[in-house]
Amino acid sequence: MSIKHYLQFSDFTADEYAYLFARAALIKRKFKAYEKHHPLVDRTLAMIFEKASTRTRVSFEAGMYQLGGSVVHLTTGDSQLGRAEPIEDSAKVISRMVDLVMIRTFGQDKIERFAAHSRVPVINGLTNEFHPCQILADIFTFIEHRGSILGKTVAWVGDGNNMANTWLQAAEILGFKVHVSTPSGYEIDQSVAGLRSADSYKVFKDPMDACRGADLVTTDVWTSMGYEAENEARRKAFADWCVDEDMMKVARPDALFMHCLPAHRGEEVQAEVIDGPQSVVWDEAENRMHVQKALMEYLLLGRIA
Ligand code: CP
Ligand code: NVA
Repeated sequence: MSIKHYLQFSDFTADEYAYLFARAALIKRKFKAYEKHHPLVDRTLAMIFEKASTRTRVSFEAGMYQLGGSVVHLTTGDSQLGRAEPIEDSAKVISRMVDLVMIRTFGQDKIERFAAHSRVPVINGLTNEFHPCQILADIFTFIEHRGSILGKTVAWVGDGNNMANTWLQAAEILGFKVHVSTPSGYEIDQSVAGLRSADSYKVFKDPMDACRGADLVTTDVWTSMGYEAENEARRKAFADWCVDEDMMKVARPDALFMHCLPAHRGEEVQAEVIDGPQSVVWDEAENRMHVQKALMEYLLLGRIA
């Protein structure tokens, strides 16, 4: 039987997402009621971080313990990964000892190579190209607050980065629209997301136009991890791509604001917006844990009736 990995959002179908969102809701309810949910007793998750993290580390680690399992935490600096052991060799060794692997790294090719040599499911905890666990949490959060995302409009304001690519994949699979506005030179590239068509997104020069009528406005840092050398150039290029109250005003009156965090108030988002009444960023962060618990359970045990 082939192993199921979660390397990009397009690895799952709309039907699998419907199952995962329902399962995450149940797992969250049980967590809030202090009800034990231990389907992964004796299972171990290896978490490999080649970039910094707060939310991904805490949500996977706490989540795995809550499922009855345990975790091993590895970084480039404290493992042989930082001393040029081939990724294929690392995959063969690590996957003989654990049941599941989560990786945060640079190029998507690296996680693909790891998965190709792994005996166990591999989860993308962020690459330069994608951040599927975050969008899983974001859409779950949208559903909690507003119901189905089908037919809705998401405004993406900012960098054509890993988050933007993942939103594009999600829109095509789940049937909503993304209005994208990026500074020139930082556009999205449809081929990275590997979309079937351009039907599920629309590009706008002016971020105000992207936000007009949107059900959700979302953004991310101007400089993603790994691109720090471009920091100064990006600061200048992105100056007009700060989500402010004017942008929120042209969105739907009940529009939500999301940010995967960490955020820089006064750069990609005004404090009044991220700390304002339309912002659901704290629910969004918490939901990382609930959806990832559903994801880990699904990858190891399949659908539970
Ligand atoms: N949103 C997110 O992935 O946060 P961390 O970088 O803190 O894991
Ligand atoms: N786009 C950001 C997301 C951080 C969670 C980055 O890759 O650094």
